Amino acid sequence: MKFDVAVLPGDGIGPEVITQALKVLQTVGEKFGHSFHLHDGLIGGVAIDTLDIALSDETLKMCKQCDAVLLGAVGGSKWDDPQAKVHPEDGLLALRKGLGLFANLRPVKVFPMLVNSTSLKPEVVKGVDLVVVRELTGGLYFGQPKKQWRTPEGRQAVDTLAYSEAEIERILRVGFELAHSRRKKLTSVDKANVLQSSRLWRQIAIEVSADYPDIELQHMLVDACAMRFIQRPSEFDVLVMENMFGDILTDEASMLAGSMGMLPSASLAGIPKGRTFGMYEPIHGSAPGRAGQNLANPIATILSVAMMLRYSLALETEAQTVENAVLATLEQGYRTYDIISEGKTKVGTKEMGDLIARKVKG
Ligand code: IPM
Ligand code: MG
Repeated sequence: MKFDVAVLPGDGIGPEVITQALKVLQTVGEKFGHSFHLHDGLIGGVAIDTLDIALSDETLKMCKQCDAVLLGAVGGSKWDDPQAKVHPEDGLLALRKGLGLFANLRPVKVFPMLVNSTSLKPEVVKGVDLVVVRELTGGLYFGQPKKQWRTPEGRQAVDTLAYSEAEIERILRVGFELAHSRRKKLTSVDKANVLQSSRLWRQIAIEVSADYPDIELQHMLVDACAMRFIQRPSEFDVLVMENMFGDILTDEASMLAGSMGMLPSASLAGIPKGRTFGMYEPIHGSAPGRAGQNLANPIATILSVAMMLRYSLALETEAQTVENAVLATLEQGYRTYDIISEGKTKVGTKEMGDLIARKVKG
């Protein structure tokens, strides 16, 4: 089959990890007889440098015309000035909003051969296989008012955590649907002891759960959840939460897998069923200090390609082929700098990409 994929490498290590992910994608194409037409676009700091904006209408339009979007990373100290009119991150937020990508899936799966590469005890991280469903186009990131102003008493600022019933319901449904095809456990994360938005969230979770009698629903306060993540993470299956809660907890959860360089993500415009439009990116940032040195771990981006094959292109066998290739490469002892341990073979970004592509070829 023929597919159109928008490719937005972005900043820092973004272009390097994207190059490896595309190599794996093209190998999948050759092996299974698909053609992936790639459409390049600018986002983030590179877009600011060339166009003075973090995301152009043209790039947004191009993404809308494709079957899926593959993104590297945005940002870097060069564009970090808090006084600056535009930041690279604005491009990412505009893209999420502009493409209606409300459901962010962040799976955390601990590979058995990496249980000794984390800062937690192996027995704690062993068997972890969870997915955080983060609401991505509402909540504290987008609510209005959102501004800074001056008063005679000094400066003030406000951000707003607002959710409509429809927004809460649709993200919860994504969680319930996913739980259905997994271990049938859903944790709805909130702060219902303090926040009105969370009380509504909890109420709607209870209402929606009536449609999913086979799923065990559990409510957990976000602070307790942060604790449980490092105490007994293997008990979690699917978790659903507000945008900002999800931002914070997924960085924490990523440490269970040993490195942010291992974790993919999907941002979907609907409940995953058949072919759902989405954007795929590693959860790590642009790591400017590591850029251009053939150091970065491309696995998160390669696993993001697997998610793209699964959710946006409905190519499940192809997705599993990529995931198995990653597993086989790790099993043979190859490691990038971030997951290296004694007795393993250290490789660079490109070599890791080559090894995985070769395994895909079979
Ligand atoms: C993430 C990132 C982004 C976010 C930044 C880069 C805007 O931290 O995807 O988790 O806060 O959503
Ligand atoms: Mg984040």
